[in-house]
Amino acid sequence: MDKRMKILVLPGDGVGPEVTSEALKVINVISKIYNLNIDIQEGFFGGVAVDKFGFPFPEETKNKINNSDAILLGAVGGAKYDILPKEKKPETGLLELRKQLNLFINIRPIISFSELANSSSIKSEYIENLDIVIIRELVGGLYFGEPRGFNNDNTEAFNTMRYNNSEVNRISEYAFKLSKKRNKKLCSVDKANVLEVSQLWRLAVNKLSENYPDIDLSHMYVDNAAMQLVQNPKQFDVIVTENLFGDILSDIASVLTGSIGMLPSASLNDKNFGVYEPIHGSAPDIAGQNIVNPIATILSVAMLFQNTFNRLDIYDHILKSVKLVLKDGMYTKDISPNDKNISTSEMGDCITEKIKVIA
Ligand code: IPM
Ligand code: MN
Repeated sequence: MDKRMKILVLPGDGVGPEVTSEALKVINVISKIYNLNIDIQEGFFGGVAVDKFGFPFPEETKNKINNSDAILLGAVGGAKYDILPKEKKPETGLLELRKQLNLFINIRPIISFSELANSSSIKSEYIENLDIVIIRELVGGLYFGEPRGFNNDNTEAFNTMRYNNSEVNRISEYAFKLSKKRNKKLCSVDKANVLEVSQLWRLAVNKLSENYPDIDLSHMYVDNAAMQLVQNPKQFDVIVTENLFGDILSDIASVLTGSIGMLPSASLNDKNFGVYEPIHGSAPDIAGQNIVNPIATILSVAMLFQNTFNRLDIYDHILKSVKLVLKDGMYTKDISPNDKNISTSEMGDCITEKIKVIA
């Protein structure tokens, strides 16, 4: 077997290049410590690809993907692209990437480090050592449902929320299996009091639960789940939900960690190919200032080793290093409890140093 680990880095727009370059420092030091054969390529994706090729997801990048095992993505988008037609918008490129690679599993861990318990607007006792995973279905639902569009004179617009049984089954199956490895508690979030799609979703999840008698399954309406996530987050362990609900709930949940700059994600298909990215956007308002928090992207690197390369040891190593750096009192601006903070590149350096020290 080819022992090389081929990683394609797509820095993208705004703060994207700043966070991926810190993540690359981490990949390089991990590669040395564990004696890995890592092959890094870079590609154009998002607004920078629109500037160069006229499209957010150019052929050149598609070809590079065919020759890689995993993608590390920064962020895409920016005001200058918002006025473009849909097929040229950076976000359209991101959705096309998810769809083409069939990345139906989106994993968003909500880990609240005790060192940041005072950085959140939620009282510390509710979030200290919190560890939740949101499993978001990523290639169906309202984001992709047909028909969609505007009517002829642009006075009306419509989208379709649509799921079939097999789409619900494959994402729920993943969530059940993950729950089995964790605290055996799964909450499926829907809006079954109103939406037929959610009624089908709930039936399918209930049917599947017969295969997982040891998992404590519950169902919750999405409006209530949004409230419960901030009111009593520790009641949750694994949450599984459809595309748009998962998008919204994961932003809400990021508040529990102190900053959206702390949240990594993995998007996987059934072949373990993954796109790893911070859940935050391109943050044009702070781009180029060396102040963005690179931890979400560095933790995405940890998830890359964990999921695509099955290296739990490396995942633990990176996670522990981040925790120790926070313990040392090193904070970027977004998570600092006082007016002392370090820059993006200093945070990257602190974490790589720590990775070496505890190796
Ligand atoms: C996310 C983002 C994307 C989404 C956008 C940029 C298309 O908000 O990954 O959560 O809505 O899925
Ligand atoms: Mn989002």
